[in-house]
Amino acid sequence: MDTLASYDELPYDSLPLPETQPDFLAAVARLHGFDAPDPGRARILELGCASGGNLIPLAWRWPESRCVGVELSRVQAEAGAAFIRHLGLSNVRIIHGDLAALPDDLGEFDYIIAHGVFSWVPPAVQQALLEVCRRHLSPHGIAYLSFNVEAGWNPLQPLRTALTERTAADLPAPARFEQALRVLDALEAEWSDPVLLKEIAYLKSAAPSYLFHEYLAEFNAPMRFAEFAAQLDTHGLRYVGEAGPRRAVVELEDGWGLIPESMAGRWLDAEAALDEALATRFRRAVIARADAPCAQPPQAEALSRLAFYADVRSDEEIDLGAATEQRFVNPAGNTFPVSLPAMKAAAMALAAAYPGALDYAALLSAARQVLAEFDVSGEVDEAGFREALFRLVITHGVMSTVSAGTVDAELEGRPCAHALARWQAKSPGWIVSGARHVAMDLDPSGRVLLGLLDGSHTIEELVAIMQTTLAETGLAPETVGELTHQQLWLFARQGLLV
Ligand SMILES: C[S@@+](CC[C@H](N)C(=O)[O-])C[C@H]1O[C@@H](n2cnc3c(N)ncnc32)[C@H](O)[C@@H]1O
Repeated sequence: MDTLASYDELPYDSLPLPETQPDFLAAVARLHGFDAPDPGRARILELGCASGGNLIPLAWRWPESRCVGVELSRVQAEAGAAFIRHLGLSNVRIIHGDLAALPDDLGEFDYIIAHGVFSWVPPAVQQALLEVCRRHLSPHGIAYLSFNVEAGWNPLQPLRTALTERTAADLPAPARFEQALRVLDALEAEWSDPVLLKEIAYLKSAAPSYLFHEYLAEFNAPMRFAEFAAQLDTHGLRYVGEAGPRRAVVELEDGWGLIPESMAGRWLDAEAALDEALATRFRRAVIARADAPCAQPPQAEALSRLAFYADVRSDEEIDLGAATEQRFVNPAGNTFPVSLPAMKAAAMALAAAYPGALDYAALLSAARQVLAEFDVSGEVDEAGFREALFRLVITHGVMSTVSAGTVDAELEGRPCAHALARWQAKSPGWIVSGARHVAMDLDPSGRVLLGLLDGSHTIEELVAIMQTTLAETGLAPETVGELTHQQLWLFARQGLLV
């Protein structure tokens, strides 16, 4: 096979995936008791990288890394290669080929990423993928493999069955997708199961490539965690932990009764039981070589060797004087309850520093400083602080990394965005990646504005250009002026300006 027609016809929306950042994966490894290789100079391999929407921004951000992508769909691999050529990047390349037929001399990699691949390929390719990890992972290297989980997918199988049976497999992918939308309408009228109806509503607004490659794909084989862990074992690999947000570990620690007591210490069994208890649908597994030192569950003591960042805000007035629960929310709309005053103060400090990261000691002292500024006296209970921070780190209200660093967000003179951001903005179908590898949801005018930021226009000139560009929308010139300023600040905060 020299290409994958379904992905050529309907390419995957290739996005930056924050949980695949090597510095984040290194932080996860530290929470599990071992040091992964330096993310700044890492050798990174991404399998099934589509057009490189995840890999290329990683290579851009870490110029001393060496990145290799492998992609079987010719259209996607060539789109990625053309994008790399345009940027003149020399530390990343995309190989058009089958991950099951990689040359032995490809070398060692410190981080291997395979997002959305394992469950969507035939069993022989699944085995080959694990073999690539065994053969090419460096001694303390980390692999990230996501996969669909049976417990959460079983209730959705009737939907996949109906969609595959009621659409014509021999249609070109875009036409079959249109047919699938009509089937969804029909199923909505026929079915009453709330789980299925919720999924149908979601699919109607989801990216076409998601619906197609998840529900109409030839292969989508959800797995049980125990089966996955056993397969790792046969390939000389081990499960380390999760890169995705973990409600579960917190629940486990709280002893909310999800896990039978008889499983204490039997971590892998507990993971499997959690999938059943929580109807887990998707896992982002962090994997290492079988001989890598590894602690389970993740260790709160390891927080003192990490740094943290958080893009959170609270719409409530924050009461730093009392342990009342308050909610912080991230840009994805996920909410994180925080009660401990010192942790509320820390969240405020992190929000102000974003996208910069503070190490543990600096975060604690920033929290103390915020409390002092608001005249809140008394000692910070460090054990309580660590526990509250651990909960936020595990649930991804606060993200962890392995080194601290500040970022100056300045907006003055003639704003200039870096070349990657400008080219992403100008390239249809490409997503702009913000600081910390987030996918930025820019509307068409935001993309136009970003594409203009080559350092040749003053802010006033940019406002005038946008007023002309948007004249036909009926927006008042002052409104366009305000929106332009807001967008420019967003670009600055997201580290897009140089
Ligand atoms: C569901 S998509 C995920 C794409 C990307 N990793 C992401 O998450 O955005 C699966 C990708 O794996 C690629 N793929 C499937 N089988 C492959 C193989 N044997 N070798 C290399 N790539 C493969 C597909 O072409 C597709 O781009």
